[in-house]
Amino acid sequence: ENAVAMNPTAFLGCFRDIFVDSQMVLPASTTDYIQTNVTLGCSNKDICVESPCQNRGRCVSQGWRSYTCECHRPYEGPHCEKEYVTARFGNKDQESYAVFSLDDDPGNTLIVSMFVRTRQSSGLLLILANSTSQYLRLWLQDGIVNVQVNNFETLVGRSVISDGHFHLLTVTLEGTTAILLQSAQNQGSANIRHIQANSGDSVYVGGLTDPRASASFGGYFKGCVQDLRINNKRLQFYPVEAMVKSNNLQQLINVEQGCSSDNACAVSVNPCLNGGVCYSMWDDFICNCPPNTAGRRCEKVKWCEMSPCPTSAVCQLHSQGFDCEYQTKIPLHYRSHGKIKHSFNRFSISFRTRQTAATLLHAQKDFDFFTMSLIDSQLTLQLQVGFDQNVSVVHTVGPVSDGLWHTVDLKIENSSTMQTPLWILALDRNKMLIDGSRMHPQALDFLREETDIFLGGLNKSGGMKLSGCLGPAEIGGLVLPFHKDTELNFPRPQPEQFVRVDGNTVNLQYGCWGASVCDPNPCQNGGVCEDVFDLHQCTCLSEWTGLLCQESTDRCLSSPCVFGNCSSMSGEYKCDCELGYEGHQCESEVNVCENSNCSNGATCLQGLKNYACLCPQNLTGQYCKLPQLPVAACIGGRWNYSCYNGGNCSKDDNSCHCLPGFIGEW
Ligand SMILES: *[C@@H]1O[C@H](CO)[C@@H](O)[C@H](O)[C@H]1NC(C)=O
Ligand SMILES: *[C@@H]1O[C@H](CO)[C@@H](O)[C@H](O)[C@H]1NC(C)=O
Ligand SMILES: *[C@@H]1O[C@H](CO)[C@@H](O)[C@H](O)[C@H]1NC(C)=O
Ligand SMILES: *[C@@H]1O[C@H](CO)[C@@H](O)[C@H](O)[C@H]1NC(C)=O
Ligand SMILES: *[C@@H]1O[C@H](CO)[C@@H](O)[C@H](O)[C@H]1NC(C)=O
Ligand SMILES: *[C@@H]1O[C@H](CO)[C@@H](O)[C@H](O)[C@H]1NC(C)=O
Ligand SMILES: *[C@@H]1O[C@H](CO)[C@@H](O)[C@H](O)[C@H]1NC(C)=O
Ligand SMILES: *[C@@H]1O[C@H](CO)[C@@H](O)[C@H](O)[C@H]1NC(C)=O
Ligand SMILES: *[C@@H]1O[C@H](CO)[C@@H](O)[C@H](O)[C@H]1NC(C)=O
Ligand SMILES: *[C@@H]1O[C@H](CO)[C@@H](O)[C@H](O)[C@H]1NC(C)=O
Repeated sequence: ENAVAMNPTAFLGCFRDIFVDSQMVLPASTTDYIQTNVTLGCSNKDICVESPCQNRGRCVSQGWRSYTCECHRPYEGPHCEKEYVTARFGNKDQESYAVFSLDDDPGNTLIVSMFVRTRQSSGLLLILANSTSQYLRLWLQDGIVNVQVNNFETLVGRSVISDGHFHLLTVTLEGTTAILLQSAQNQGSANIRHIQANSGDSVYVGGLTDPRASASFGGYFKGCVQDLRINNKRLQFYPVEAMVKSNNLQQLINVEQGCSSDNACAVSVNPCLNGGVCYSMWDDFICNCPPNTAGRRCEKVKWCEMSPCPTSAVCQLHSQGFDCEYQTKIPLHYRSHGKIKHSFNRFSISFRTRQTAATLLHAQKDFDFFTMSLIDSQLTLQLQVGFDQNVSVVHTVGPVSDGLWHTVDLKIENSSTMQTPLWILALDRNKMLIDGSRMHPQALDFLREETDIFLGGLNKSGGMKLSGCLGPAEIGGLVLPFHKDTELNFPRPQPEQFVRVDGNTVNLQYGCWGASVCDPNPCQNGGVCEDVFDLHQCTCLSEWTGLLCQESTDRCLSSPCVFGNCSSMSGEYKCDCELGYEGHQCESEVNVCENSNCSNGATCLQGLKNYACLCPQNLTGQYCKLPQLPVAACIGGRWNYSCYNGGNCSKDDNSCHCLPGFIGEW
């Protein structure tokens, strides 16, 4: 008994045949001998089969009933039964940090490792510093680990760790190389200048004592840190009693034990809007949104799915509400109230008309006014803000009174290079710059306060009234609604809005159509009328033509061929002329004497197909080229040329026989 008590490591093994004074004492056969923890036999069973290691620790058999446990971090102890106490930073958004000092020189290689859990995308993780410099910094930026050595050599992780799960971070500084691992996955390496860590150097975890210095690394860390080690030496925030040695903890400010969660669903801070139900997660929340809402905080109400607009309108969702959009024909009157806060730096409207002069929008307050109108088919913008300022007038090029939809966008942008703002006017997306030198960037802001705004006319009685259609009009992104809220199925909730103030809703026409140009049908002769907005277009049957199909395509109806037969083909006519006539309409006689061969001053005699030459006295022949021979020559039929004009001198009667058309003795 004494021997066992003195030597706590009891014998482990087998004995047999132990005789004392010829008496077998072991295995004991009588109860005279005390046997404790002795079993019969000498079995050698593997104790690791019984899985003595906890928390997935690996059991390594050391031979006969002996073993060791290789523990996974953050577990420790002979059976991996002990866990390093997790430290909670930033509980309830407190500024928290811990400071250790290194007990001994880490040597040439520095390995910093720890488990980190957070949902915060930025924050300071750890800084190693001596009296002159912070030679190693670890912080989170956009959820990614940043490592900085000697103030400028940096190494950045590849994957986000701010997902609310534990990640094991390991930074190894060995010689001139820095390596970052996240849960055993290499995130990259960087070349560094050699660093020298010494005992007495400080380790800041979660923040620095100075809040401003902390802020430059994303502020104080919010989350949990567990099992922090530098070169396998622990830095314990809440030491597991006497388990392992820890570096010297100097300060522990607002760091709590465990890894509790902020109650993101507390009644006072309920993040879920519009009746969403909040479920708490670690340092986070989930909103279970009621129907018709969406978004992380149920902040997006799907207003349009609740069908707030009359059937003729299209519901348009906005960040804080909705608008019902229409096309309309009637001048509408609005008055802004002081609730609109944001700056009016853009304006847009769409329209279609065939009018050459009309007002699209007119806004007036005292002497300030803003008018967008059509003058001579051109888009014209007039602005006067401030009593003694000149009126700025802008015309666009190109006519817009063509019955097609046109869109006008006006934008005021700050110019980086010029002092004056850029006024950019776009007609159907064709941009042009306006000289904004005399215009203030906030010039349109007067529209926010008690200003009368008319759409489609100049005033209540509809001066310069637009005959055509208006599409959605927006000032600073706020719609000028064509309906009143009372006409909607429920009122619009957005705080900033324009409200219609004119009385008559009865006569409002929604939709866009022009005058009734096809009834009665203006197209004649069976032509089909097409309404192309305040203008008709006739499609004629093939034999009719003209704007109203009033003209026949049979061009022979007007008998265009004067001396000839007319034939009509594909809207044209062709004349077959009678003999002796020519020209497109057979209007002129054929001049057979033109280029005649009558020579020597002979007179050309015009026939139907042919001509004849009337020769002077002493000439003869068809073309009067032959000399006239003496008359006596016509004797014995020998001198045919003695007869004029081709007549034969007949030997039968010694006289001339004339060609048809000629008479006389010769
Ligand atoms: C016998 O073994 C048990 C379990 O290993 C131990 O708790 C006990 O102290 C041992 N008895 C003596 C007398 O050593
Ligand atoms: C502090 O650390 C830097 C970087 O390792 C080293 O260059 C410097 O000499 C150290 N200063 C002191 C006082 O130890
Ligand atoms: C108005 O315009 C005229 C002529 O362009 C110019 O001389 C005058 O200085 C302008 N006045 C202001 C207040 O801009
Ligand atoms: C232009 O810049 C000024 C000062 O930088 C600012 O106050 C104003 O809101 C800006 N305007 C627009 C339209 O961006
Ligand atoms: C509306 O404007 C037109 C055209 O300028 C004008 O003739 C008419 O008198 C104005 N009516 C009112 C009520 O101001
Ligand atoms: C014109 O038409 C008539 C009747 O068909 C015909 O007799 C005559 O020959 C035609 N004349 C010509 C020049 O084709
Ligand atoms: C004129 O004479 C030449 C040659 O004999 C002939 O080819 C031509 O057709 C004649 N011209 C006329 C208009 O008779
Ligand atoms: C024809 O008569 C005229 C005048 O009588 C004369 O000039 C001319 O030479 C004569 N021609 C011939 C070919 O004899
Ligand atoms: C002259 O006329 C006769 C008939 O009258 C005819 O037979 C003869 O061939 C003609 N001679 C010449 C040269 O033309
Ligand atoms: C002239 O003579 C020719 C040849 O014999 C003949 O063909 C022609 O008909 C005669 N002319 C007259 C007018 O007799």
